Amino acid sequence: MKKWLTKELICPECLEQEVFLNLESQKENDQEIIEGNLICPQCGQQYTIHEGIAVVVPKKTLPITRESTGYGSFSMLSSYFWSHYSEFFNGPDATDAYKKWAAAFEPQNGWALDIGCSVGRLSFEMTKTHDRVVGIDTSLSFIRAARKLAAQKRLEFEMIMEGRITEKKSTSLPSEFNFDHTEFIVADATALPFPRERFATASSVNILEKVSDPALHLTEANRVMDKKNAQFLFSDPFSWDESVSSPDTWLGGRNQGPYKGYGMENICRLMEEDSGPFSPGFTIRQTGEVLWKIRKTRHLWEHITSQFILGKR
Ligand SMILES: C[S@@+](CC[C@H](N)C(=O)[O-])C[C@H]1O[C@@H](n2cnc3c(N)ncnc32)[C@H](O)[C@@H]1O
Repeated sequence: MKKWLTKELICPECLEQEVFLNLESQKENDQEIIEGNLICPQCGQQYTIHEGIAVVVPKKTLPITRESTGYGSFSMLSSYFWSHYSEFFNGPDATDAYKKWAAAFEPQNGWALDIGCSVGRLSFEMTKTHDRVVGIDTSLSFIRAARKLAAQKRLEFEMIMEGRITEKKSTSLPSEFNFDHTEFIVADATALPFPRERFATASSVNILEKVSDPALHLTEANRVMDKKNAQFLFSDPFSWDESVSSPDTWLGGRNQGPYKGYGMENICRLMEEDSGPFSPGFTIRQTGEVLWKIRKTRHLWEHITSQFILGKR
């Protein structure tokens, strides 16, 4: 983990008190802590840094981070490398979705947080408009991959053609990405290990429907954003899924209750309100749709319309 991030982390088990973690470094170089622990002086919980990767999640989230299925699987890595970077290795039908999301940001002094960053494309894009960028994700496999990309400034991976048949793909990444000003850690969108108002910008792109408590994710994003001068990029296809979150927690796709109707309308309303997850509210500057693609195999693509909102306050 880059040294510039070590003093910024708080204990995800003691969020209300915002207790900063103490670093116990066991192995480091000029730029990074390679092995060590981050220790909470209040509850005593230890968070490891191993092979440069900090895992700063509540105990209940730890098993998810190491899963080798879902977002931890080899096939998901192939899919997301393609989705994030195929523009650079001339993949046919590459998606320009990340460029479109990134184009929404206004340059802003301060740090940006990419929540659910996967293999890091949007985080790298955000270095063009922000001083420093932190990407967080619960998938250790994605965070390891994003850190490797930042270190090597290039992508090399096995792209799945069908089943176990793969093709090697490689490309260098654009030199305008400021790799040294990016860091990726394993963290949970519903218990962010950062103090309040640490970030000038946060993004929540295609993650709302993937968390067990969508409102808590938004409340947490709001907690870590500046109260006076912040921008929030939100995007989601709103494909609510009962296997991820209970319908009682959905912020849309319901026929009754406070979140009846479509997710896009409800999130716009929540962002503009001064009460609820966003306080103080945002002024909505842009809304729209981004056509996004994920490639599974040579014959299977998912075509997704992600509805986005850019809010400022
Ligand atoms: C649909 S993917 C979107 C990834 C990326 N934002 C993009 O648009 O390409 C959802 C991401 O959220 C991550 N994720 C799911 N639950 C999470 C949580 N509670 N905290 C942080 N990340 C989470 C997954 O590991 C995955 O990388």
